[in-house]
Amino acid sequence: MAVADFYTKINLQYSSQLSYVSTRLSYSRRVSLRPLPRPHNSRICCSVTSKEAQAPVFVNTEDPRKKPDCYGVFCLTYDLTAEEETKSWKKLINIAVSGAAGMISNHLLFKLASGEVFGPDQPISLKLLGSERSLQALEGVAMELEDSLFPLLREVSIGIDSYEVFQDADWALLIGAKPRGPGMERAGLLDINGQIFAEQGKALNAVASRNVKVIVVGNPCNTNALICLKNAPDIPAKNFHALTRLDENRAKCQLALKAGVFYDKVSNMTIWGNHSTTQVPDFLNAKINGIPVKEVIKDTKWLEEEFTEMVQKRGGVLIKKWGRSSAASTAVSIVDAIRSLVTPTPKGDWFSSGVYTAGNPYGIEEDIVFSMPCRSKGDGDYELVKDVIFDDFLRSRIKKTEAELLAEKRCVAHLTGEGIAVCDLPGDTMLPGEM
Ligand code: LMR
Repeated sequence: MAVADFYTKINLQYSSQLSYVSTRLSYSRRVSLRPLPRPHNSRICCSVTSKEAQAPVFVNTEDPRKKPDCYGVFCLTYDLTAEEETKSWKKLINIAVSGAAGMISNHLLFKLASGEVFGPDQPISLKLLGSERSLQALEGVAMELEDSLFPLLREVSIGIDSYEVFQDADWALLIGAKPRGPGMERAGLLDINGQIFAEQGKALNAVASRNVKVIVVGNPCNTNALICLKNAPDIPAKNFHALTRLDENRAKCQLALKAGVFYDKVSNMTIWGNHSTTQVPDFLNAKINGIPVKEVIKDTKWLEEEFTEMVQKRGGVLIKKWGRSSAASTAVSIVDAIRSLVTPTPKGDWFSSGVYTAGNPYGIEEDIVFSMPCRSKGDGDYELVKDVIFDDFLRSRIKKTEAELLAEKRCVAHLTGEGIAVCDLPGDTMLPGEM
């Protein structure tokens, strides 16, 4: 049989099996997407280089921690080593994304695949985690990725089992979470989503890269990140982030608007604390054109009241307009958050991220995930910024958001291995979208 014929045959076989698996799933509500049935427990791949098609190769996957399924054209293998030589490409990195069939991911995945996040010399593999309900949509996402012909996108796999999808992940972008339903108590939301993140923490601990960087986006993201890291004891707690970059971007935009400057002139913007309506956009340390904000915007009442509230509640106002949560700007802020870790922070500036508080220099309670100012050398790691100042207003606001996070932590004690949960959540605080 000619190589080309063989090649086509395998692809056809693959597609029909895939639709079979999808159909079966929709009828039998199986919990886990199993790899397609393959002879002798082997993974079938085809090899092509830019010049010629090679004979199909059989890769043994006897290892019980099997890789999740590759999708369509991404099942073809390629000679990355040769391409690395000619194009000076870096080593492939694996990026796992949960909630991959959702709106945020729909913006994010195409940015990741285009090279605008990790750079034009960084080939990537996307590992997409969906739910049983979203599996078909996830195939649609994978098809669109195929049709986009991104040169840097070398592998795509889809699945609904985090232990399969998170295998060898270098980055885990945890976006999928349940929204708060009508009549659901905040404690209920913490519990439902907490269980998802406890499970995903365990899966990361079992199968991800030992230095995986995790960005938790699904709300309530600070406490979800705490739950996740507690369930992943073999991964450094420092590697877990809760996304507060969207809040930082929102705060910069409002300060720029008030000062009548373009938003690139706003720097040193810290969001302290929780991604909720208690978060503290810090106008004391922020700068406009390198000058402290309070010297540029003299209206302290506006800063303390309108500005602060506008940032805290921006997500909710947006939901009222759109009828759904922010998606595009959230995806952009995930890109910003990753870029801040993989490129050196501009001298004198910093960025905000919700990170683990152990050893923090600000006197914030240990053992929670709290947004604080960070700087990075561009190696994926970060350090906390020491040269920040505090006044009474800032301190008292930080105390409030800290108290909220401590209460959330008590409420999920059953998911962090710290005993019996006690939910005494402050009644007046909400997620940004819960207005
Ligand atoms: C946002 O800040 O836009 C979202 O976190 C709001 C939400 O609750 O979904």
